[in-house]
Amino acid sequence: MNTIKTLKNISAYKAGASKILGKNSVIKLSSNESPFGPSQKVLDKIKKISGTTNRYPESGSVELKDSISKRYKLNKKNIFCANGSDEILGLICQLYLTKGDEVIIPNNSFLMYEIYSKINNAKIIKSKTIDYCVDTKSILNSINKKTKIIFIANPNNPTGLYLDKLSLHSFIKKIPKRIIIVLDAAYAEYLDKNDYESGMSYIKKNENIIVTRTFSKIYGLASLRLGWCYANQNIISLLDKIRGPFNVNRIAQEAGAIAVLEKNVEKKLISHNKYWLKKIKDEFNKLPLVVYDSQANFIFIRLRKGIKEKIMLNKYLLSKSLIIRTLDNYNMPECIRVTIGTEKENKILISVFKSFFKNDK
Ligand SMILES: Cc1ncc(COP(=O)(O)O)c(C=O)c1O
Repeated sequence: MNTIKTLKNISAYKAGASKILGKNSVIKLSSNESPFGPSQKVLDKIKKISGTTNRYPESGSVELKDSISKRYKLNKKNIFCANGSDEILGLICQLYLTKGDEVIIPNNSFLMYEIYSKINNAKIIKSKTIDYCVDTKSILNSINKKTKIIFIANPNNPTGLYLDKLSLHSFIKKIPKRIIIVLDAAYAEYLDKNDYESGMSYIKKNENIIVTRTFSKIYGLASLRLGWCYANQNIISLLDKIRGPFNVNRIAQEAGAIAVLEKNVEKKLISHNKYWLKKIKDEFNKLPLVVYDSQANFIFIRLRKGIKEKIMLNKYLLSKSLIIRTLDNYNMPECIRVTIGTEKENKILISVFKSFFKNDK
């Protein structure tokens, strides 16, 4: 059971800023959302059903699961849908954790793993990273009898760095089956690497793996709150027991059911992201910045001169109406994360960065 005492040691999640005082319009590159709205087909559907909000949604997200299973060729019984993948992360912790349990989370990873684990009274064990990359050896060395869950975001937020297929494979083989491995693939759609595997192929043979996915990124549905996971049927039925009866709203269910099947729309969005990810990295690499090889819809950057320079850069960006993510909360105060925007936004981003560093080559 949670006690108010437990919650005293937990800081609430701070989302990326979306407003600047005194500015009517801003360029928001702080939360890794898609810079585009939903597709026309999805929008038409949303408009069509917007007058039905007096009714509860269908409880089991049946059509949405049909679409997801069609798209990814998965058994529907292995799919669970929720109010954002965030909800799934919380439910997993609720399901498996109790006081005295340990959860292993790599350093510099998505903050919600820690928050949900702490809410459920678990002890957090941070594994090391090597130049911000997940170090699987350190995770393995951290395992003991109390370990219940290992979280890995692949690719990771806020770094955009990923664990390649071979490393993931040999890592999974070494994990005792009693430990739940959560592979958070929120940004999987953006990965264009032959040596990347979201982990979905492991579900059939590994009863302890859960792969989480989201509609908040490539599908442009962040505000509808929609996520899903793929796992062994036993896990799915346990999640079904503890979820709320109507955890996914109707608009999200119907929008998601269309979006996940629109492969051509997705292709265009991926190629926009691919082009600008490379372009911005190339431009930023000409500046005195350490630009990491992020593979999602954002770029992770370290300021060579550290925290003071980060503060000055951020002030300058805000003065130009640009909101990026500073990473103080992630214990990386010398780093920032910048989401890929529209063409217009990206051009402004590049030129504002260039002008900040113009005297500093
Ligand atoms: C790695 C990772 N996992 C999960 C989430 C949560 O996504 P959702 O919007 O589906 O709750 C995010 C959101 O930014 C994320 O970066």
